[in-house]
Amino acid sequence: MMYDLAVIGGGPGGYVAAIRGAQQGLKVLLVEKGALGGTCLNQGCIPTKCFVYDSKLFKATKSSPVLTGADSLAVDPLKMVTRKRAVVKQLVGGLGAILSSHGIKVASGTGQLLGPGKLSVQTTEGAGHNYEARNIILATGSRPAVPPFISIDGHFVQTTDEALDAEDLPGELIIIGGGVIGIEMATVFLNLGVQVTILELLPDILTTEDQEVRRTMRQLLRRSGATLHLKAKAQDIRVADDRVILTFEDADGTVKTLAADRLLVATGRTPVLDGLDISGLSLATDGPFIRVNRRLQTNLANVYAIGDVIGGLMLAHKASAEAEAAVENLLGHKKEIITENIPRCIWGLAEIGAVGLNEEEARATGRRIQIGKFPFGASGAAQAMGNPIGFAKIIADADNGEILGLHIIGEHATDLVGYAATVMTMESAVEDLAEAIQAHPTLSETVMEAALDWKGLAIHIPKR
Ligand code: NAI
Repeated sequence: MMYDLAVIGGGPGGYVAAIRGAQQGLKVLLVEKGALGGTCLNQGCIPTKCFVYDSKLFKATKSSPVLTGADSLAVDPLKMVTRKRAVVKQLVGGLGAILSSHGIKVASGTGQLLGPGKLSVQTTEGAGHNYEARNIILATGSRPAVPPFISIDGHFVQTTDEALDAEDLPGELIIIGGGVIGIEMATVFLNLGVQVTILELLPDILTTEDQEVRRTMRQLLRRSGATLHLKAKAQDIRVADDRVILTFEDADGTVKTLAADRLLVATGRTPVLDGLDISGLSLATDGPFIRVNRRLQTNLANVYAIGDVIGGLMLAHKASAEAEAAVENLLGHKKEIITENIPRCIWGLAEIGAVGLNEEEARATGRRIQIGKFPFGASGAAQAMGNPIGFAKIIADADNGEILGLHIIGEHATDLVGYAATVMTMESAVEDLAEAIQAHPTLSETVMEAALDWKGLAIHIPKR
């Protein structure tokens, strides 16, 4: 049977492409070898957020200044993982129903690109089916990248694939990698009272984020009892007597060992190219990623690629935005993603919401920049919530007010950044953010006040 569109990979890139294609009247085939929803629903965004919110509730209750009896409070890791499985099941089931409501044919198995317009699907039972499609979108995602000297045994040495389905808690945990996954997982375990050590190769954690945001996060981690080894190089990992022993070179060059109950590897992710005979197909790549142009076209006719498999920000919402753009493009319209306006959210000990350039990047453009900042400590809403940590920081062109970057760390930063991203997409200037009336008492006021501070007109901080 000839399809208008075949999508390989059912994550937030692939399933969005399939739905958007069907909405545009295309006959769509979606190929998925695992569970619908990909990493995001099954081993990534959603499972982590379940754990982040459960662990945050536990910590907030235990440390509440107004609740009594918290000393005897305990967390049940089995109940946490059971709740997570139920949430995932609900969302994956819902997604299946949505796809079916659009008349999308879902083929379970490993999709293999045979060439432009041609693909096959190998089921787990070994059967193969060939399909033809006028357009193909590759959305095969990514998997954890594990340094060659580390072997994952699934219990003592884990990636997020195993850690997000574990039914027990370690007493002590080592995390290799201080990127987004390292920090989010550290947050969960620290909130639950686990002793956490983070090892990072670079001079800082979360190196893509603004330096002041990073500093605040480092302080929060240390205050929560985490040990950070920056500029530290893992050398060897072995398991003995039910303990993981890590040998590493610390920043000063000394070789040290650490022991813990468990070790989590969070050293980045690598694209999934299973079923893609890159050289046989002459498919162009950029390093490990599939190469696409700004319209998301590969070098093969009518074959597009989106999401983690093409690199850039490995974010679910970036993949979904690319999915919609790829469908528009294959329909003959012209759509490109403005990468600068994609928000980045990190659920750490304080939430981080960021969009656009950080301060160092903004200065490097050579433009004259001006910064507005407002601390959550000066926000009535943040004080009433009992967590006045963090700030909102706006970086804008000093001459024309163009917003270049917005960085928020603090309660609900991941939601707050959304309206800033909207404002940036509408190409509004910092003055518009300052002028829009925000309700009181809400955290939205922190962004408004940061924009006012950019003009030297913030109300709730003393005159500089
Ligand atoms: P990452 O690239 O963000 O961080 C990996 C970190 O590990 C880097 O800082 C790197 O310097 C360090 N590293 C690499 N090799 C090392 C070694 N041998 N020893 C010590 N440190 C080492 O990758 P991460 O955290 O694994 O996340 C993967 C992808 O998933 C990222 O692109 C991230 O943006 C995405 N993601 C996004 C989330 C969100 O948006 N909230 C949540 C989780 C993941």
